Amino acid sequence: MSPAESPINALADPLTHPGDTRFDRWWHERLVAYRTAITDLMVKIDDPHQLSRTEQQALAKRMRNSNMALYRCRHPARVDRAAVQALALQLGLCEPDHNLCAADDGFSELEVKDDASHRRYIPYSNLQLNWHTDGYYHAPERTIRSMLLHCVRPALRGGALEAIDYEIVFGLLHQCDPRYTDALSQPDTLAIPANQAAGAIIRGLCIGPVFFHEGGVLRMRYTARRRNIIWKNDPVVHEAVAALETILASSAELVVRRRLAAGEGMVCNNVLHRRDAFTDSPERHRTRLIYRGRYTQAPTFQSAPS
Ligand SMILES: [Fe+2]
Repeated sequence: MSPAESPINALADPLTHPGDTRFDRWWHERLVAYRTAITDLMVKIDDPHQLSRTEQQALAKRMRNSNMALYRCRHPARVDRAAVQALALQLGLCEPDHNLCAADDGFSELEVKDDASHRRYIPYSNLQLNWHTDGYYHAPERTIRSMLLHCVRPALRGGALEAIDYEIVFGLLHQCDPRYTDALSQPDTLAIPANQAAGAIIRGLCIGPVFFHEGGVLRMRYTARRRNIIWKNDPVVHEAVAALETILASSAELVVRRRLAAGEGMVCNNVLHRRDAFTDSPERHRTRLIYRGRYTQAPTFQSAPS
């Protein structure tokens, strides 16, 4: 697809493409709200142990409009692991999903780790992480609906986070061709083979849709990786995947980009995200460290009044 044919270009001015369908009305409002929201995603937090009502409402408003919010703790040096857990608890995120490499409290410590149990996984390297939603390889009963990333220490260079709301990606793809969102909503669209190590099955085969609804809430499971995944053998699915890749590669104005500083973080409804490669400090105690909590529940503050 050439730049002139990009779905982003087609959406340069949504007001010039009015429609009276339910999708068009939703899409226009959603895109306008999202564009505004991502210009002001950061919420300053005085004390992560005790969010003020104003801070709660500020986070809720951003989550409503973009499925994500950034936060910055005023006193990063005082924010320990317990403070991040306390912050998550106040957002209704009570029980982190205990993935393979998580600590006892459910938080994963994303840093460069070379031991046998971590080195198979790119999040524990300094390599670029391509677009994905967390837990795309999980069975439906373990759907990851929200996520919190908290930066303890940034890298010496690089490591920026990029994110885009999956509702925006859905809208762009649907506007490109409604057959594409239909194709990626089939229950057998994307299969992730079982994860095996040393002959043992760590996780079973997972087959499911890319887009799905839960009680009127859109969700997405996706990975841009090309190896060890199986797309449904359907020409429209393959067209849709190519269009989705083009959207992600050509939507810079809709992508939130932030190199998280110490004491900063993101909470989100498992939006699409990626990470730049990075270079760590040669000093061991100054290497990049991110706490990650993943949750099967969604934050409960979204219904708070604005
Ligand atoms: Fe991730």
